[in-house]
Amino acid sequence: MNKDFLALSQFSKSELDAIFTLTRELKQKQKRGEEHHLLKGKTLAMIFEKSSTRTRVSFEVGMYQLGGHPLFISTKDSQMGRGEPIKDTARVMARYCDGVMIRTYGQEIVEEFARYSSVPIINGLTDLHHPCQIMADLFTVIEHRGSYEGLKIAWVGDGNNMANTWIEAAAIFGFDLTLACPKGYEPDAAAMQWALANATSSIVLTDDPQEAVKDADVVNTDVWASMGQEAEQNKREKDFAGYQLNEALLDLAKGNCMVLHCLPAHRGEEITDDVIEGPHSAVWDEAENRLHVQKAIMATLMG
Ligand code: CP
Ligand code: NVA
Repeated sequence: MNKDFLALSQFSKSELDAIFTLTRELKQKQKRGEEHHLLKGKTLAMIFEKSSTRTRVSFEVGMYQLGGHPLFISTKDSQMGRGEPIKDTARVMARYCDGVMIRTYGQEIVEEFARYSSVPIINGLTDLHHPCQIMADLFTVIEHRGSYEGLKIAWVGDGNNMANTWIEAAAIFGFDLTLACPKGYEPDAAAMQWALANATSSIVLTDDPQEAVKDADVVNTDVWASMGQEAEQNKREKDFAGYQLNEALLDLAKGNCMVLHCLPAHRGEEITDDVIEGPHSAVWDEAENRLHVQKAIMATLMG
């Protein structure tokens, strides 16, 4: 298996399905209060160049539950913020720690870190991908629907890191994906090209939210301005008009559809309060599953 967890495209379906199997086992053990110290005595460094609530807490708690030790590092309080090269930081960290989780801007930063590190590197979100989140989302779909096989998954909104990772996931797992993104906010072209070349399922990009949501089993959205795009907020609010996930749009999906949002959500922008608080919303299970799925990822790579 690949040493690092930087993008889903580095893994086969069977490797990722094995992570879901371990996730289920670890979740059951945690619920039953059974010890599962698969990473006893091991240390995970968590490097954050962007803000986080879920990623930080779920990795930190997860490492503790696995019998290991998590270490929070903010780039601005470390020598990374003063320009120490990534390749130097990576080699030093690997001398102390058994794994490193990084949340940063460019995908090339996590890739360079991984190239110079002898220990596993886990992508905790970059501008390009959010692989731990999509694994948690898919695990939530499996829990609620039994499987992702044969489902139509819809994405409405920005062609951002979440959308790019959903595109890779559709090609790997073989479910249908339709994305509705406004013109100028399309997903990463290389991710799309890779997926279309490898997919057996249908992966469709449109600018029509109604087409995407029609008869969908799972409807997903995310913020209109991601971290690092705060200055574009006002322009994006105008450009994304009509892309709000509200009751009227959700009515086009299947009657038993699930609503996902990786959080944090902006109620009244990309999603309405009645949808995120409504009967189709699985966002709290989704957030919880970050913990369980990341424990399985860490145990698989670092165990
Ligand atoms: N969904 C997610 O990654 O949340 P945080 O930004 O709070 O970590
Ligand atoms: N697309 C969002 C996801 C946050 C978890 C961002 O990158 O800010």
